[in-house]
Amino acid sequence: MKEAIIIENKALGADYFLISLKWALAPKVRPGQFVMLRVTGSMDPLLRRPFSVYNTDGDTVELLYKVVGKGTTILSSLNPGDDVDLLGPLGKGFSIPGGMLGKSRLLMVAGGVGIAPFYHLGRSIKDSDCDNLLIYGARTKRDTVVVKPFKDIGVKIKIATEDGSRGTKGLVTGLLESEMHCGDIVYACGPSLMLKAVAEMAEDKGVRCLVSLERAMACGIGVCLGCALRTVSHRPGRVLKDDRTYQMVCSDGPVFDSRDVDWDKI
Ligand SMILES: Cc1cc2nc3c(=O)[nH]c(=O)nc-3n(C[C@H](O)[C@H](O)[C@H](O)COP(=O)(O)OP(=O)(O)OC[C@H]3O[C@@H](n4cnc5c(N)ncnc54)[C@H](O)[C@@H]3O)c2cc1C
Ligand code: FES
Repeated sequence: MKEAIIIENKALGADYFLISLKWALAPKVRPGQFVMLRVTGSMDPLLRRPFSVYNTDGDTVELLYKVVGKGTTILSSLNPGDDVDLLGPLGKGFSIPGGMLGKSRLLMVAGGVGIAPFYHLGRSIKDSDCDNLLIYGARTKRDTVVVKPFKDIGVKIKIATEDGSRGTKGLVTGLLESEMHCGDIVYACGPSLMLKAVAEMAEDKGVRCLVSLERAMACGIGVCLGCALRTVSHRPGRVLKDDRTYQMVCSDGPVFDSRDVDWDKI
């Protein structure tokens, strides 16, 4: 655990915020990793909340978050100069075939606030020779809060909104159907049902797919077993009856090969 000081906590509209924190461990964060943040020194809420790392710059870490409940409401009320405790960096993050400067074309698929881990990833591969594409699905135009930052780092972005107020009308998976050929590997983050659909599409097309999963988390470090994920792989994990395994989203993930996830139990 390491204390972090809030530099800025900026409202982006539609209940989204971008918080910048001065944090000594910021330079250690790899794309796709997350932190557990305690929003208050009091006992309520007691548990830290998990957030993907959106960006790092020197000793600054940025988190993109959406206000959905008590913890994030308190977080949104914090001010520059306030301190919070941060546990991390946690999880294994994204692996990239051939390394950050590899020749693979990355197709990133984000649903809502699931876009958060892709900025750090996009920045890390910005010198790649390949055209990397982000497909961003949101409810409405108001929810598409971080489009320009991606354009500024040279990531191509295509948008689908459910009401058609920005980009293509419909679900992100509709747009993905016509763009699947653009990627050698798919990275997806968002609601579970979206991830399941993306995983099925990738499997149909024979494209490798990595999914970043969300689970309610208590400890974030593989101790409480609260974030167990049923997998269908035979990789190291906790072997249970009927030859399947459980892995912990916090410490074995949050990024998994989509073929390893038991999507019927998600
Ligand atoms: C690895 C990981 C990375 C995450 N990254 C981000 C991020 O970058 N930005 C962001 O805004 N959120 C992210 N989340 C989700 C975030 O942790 C939750 O939104 C947050 O914990 C909610 O806290 P709360 O106290 O405001 O809501 P609560 O009062 O705890 O819950 C309010 C509502 O949100 C639902 N909820 C709570 N946690 C989750 C969850 N993990 N997934 C889906 N629904 C949930 C509850 O079921 C409830 O309906 C991430 C979660 C994980 C596991
Ligand atoms: S949150 Fe405790 S084991 Fe994952």
